[in-house]
Amino acid sequence: MFNCSDYVKTNQPINMTDMIERIALDVTGYCLFDSEFNAMNNPNSEFRKISKIILRSTNENTIRRMMKIFDSANVLKKLFDFQDISPKVHNFFFNRLEDTKKLPQCELTTENDFVKLMLNIRNKELADGKDVTFTDEIIASNMRLFFEGGFEPASTTLNFCLYELAMNPMIQERVRSEIKRVRDSRSGFFEFNALDQLTYMEMVIEETLRKYPPQTMLHRICTKTYRIPESDVILRPHVSVSIPIYSIHHDERYYENPETFDPERFTTENKARRIPNTYIPFGIGPRKCLGSLPCIQRRSPSSRGSIVFRFESGCQVR
Ligand code: HEM
Repeated sequence: MFNCSDYVKTNQPINMTDMIERIALDVTGYCLFDSEFNAMNNPNSEFRKISKIILRSTNENTIRRMMKIFDSANVLKKLFDFQDISPKVHNFFFNRLEDTKKLPQCELTTENDFVKLMLNIRNKELADGKDVTFTDEIIASNMRLFFEGGFEPASTTLNFCLYELAMNPMIQERVRSEIKRVRDSRSGFFEFNALDQLTYMEMVIEETLRKYPPQTMLHRICTKTYRIPESDVILRPHVSVSIPIYSIHHDERYYENPETFDPERFTTENKARRIPNTYIPFGIGPRKCLGSLPCIQRRSPSSRGSIVFRFESGCQVR
């Protein structure tokens, strides 16, 4: 892992967006792949390079995003043999899977690496003469899904969180004192359980996810005819439905002064008063975000501990 203090000691301005992305990558590697991605120490690490290919705003990536939402965009796929995943990204995860497969059986035991878990299940199914659930294609696709789904929303959230803390010094001071109090009560260490004591910090993160949900829309395909209650709107099978997370989170009917950053909206009492399903940064229903369960990165010591530093607008940190 890395130490933010080393960067601060250089007394140079820090590009926090870049740093947060690298922190989120390293945490993703540690929590999901049981690997050192080394993005913090090495800006040119292979995972950093692949993350840039996935995230950068190119025409190809825009078309790929549209293909996930609009069926009509799939015409491009047929007409131009356009791949919905960049071949570079596809090969990267396949090669990594091939490397993992070469490991001896005794090294496939870690519980921190879901790729090894899937390989273990597959080996057991093969040994029992059953059909295989996790083909190479499924494992490699899930590696990409977890990689992308894991680090991108977490780094976006941390970026907006630090921005709001820089713009709201009083909120920032309250977060810092809470972190210092909890840290000092634990002889300077944040073990996992201590993070539960950071209740105000939790409210700040929840408010960040309200104001800046990393995924602004949810998408579903209707499977059976459904009338929206108390309306004449009927949804037919195969119709594509978009649920506007961002608009719901910014609707004055649910959040007074929605553009104001106000963590008090997330006190226990205020949460209990909220109309159900008007706070959905992690989606809703059976396809809800897997990361929202233990919310691995949100609870990582690195993401919380970093706010012991003081942030100022203009990305100054001291
Ligand atoms: C701030 C953090 C995160 C936010 C805001 C977020 C948000 C979301 C949203 C809105 C969805 C779509 C859910 C739906 O359609 O109802 C989703 C899906 C998903 N997320 Fe996250 N996510 C976060 C972190 C993570 C992390 C850390 C992981 C890795 C463990 C992860 C893994 C996934 C996966 C695998 C799916 C697809 C689930 C499925 O289709 O069944 N996410 N996430």
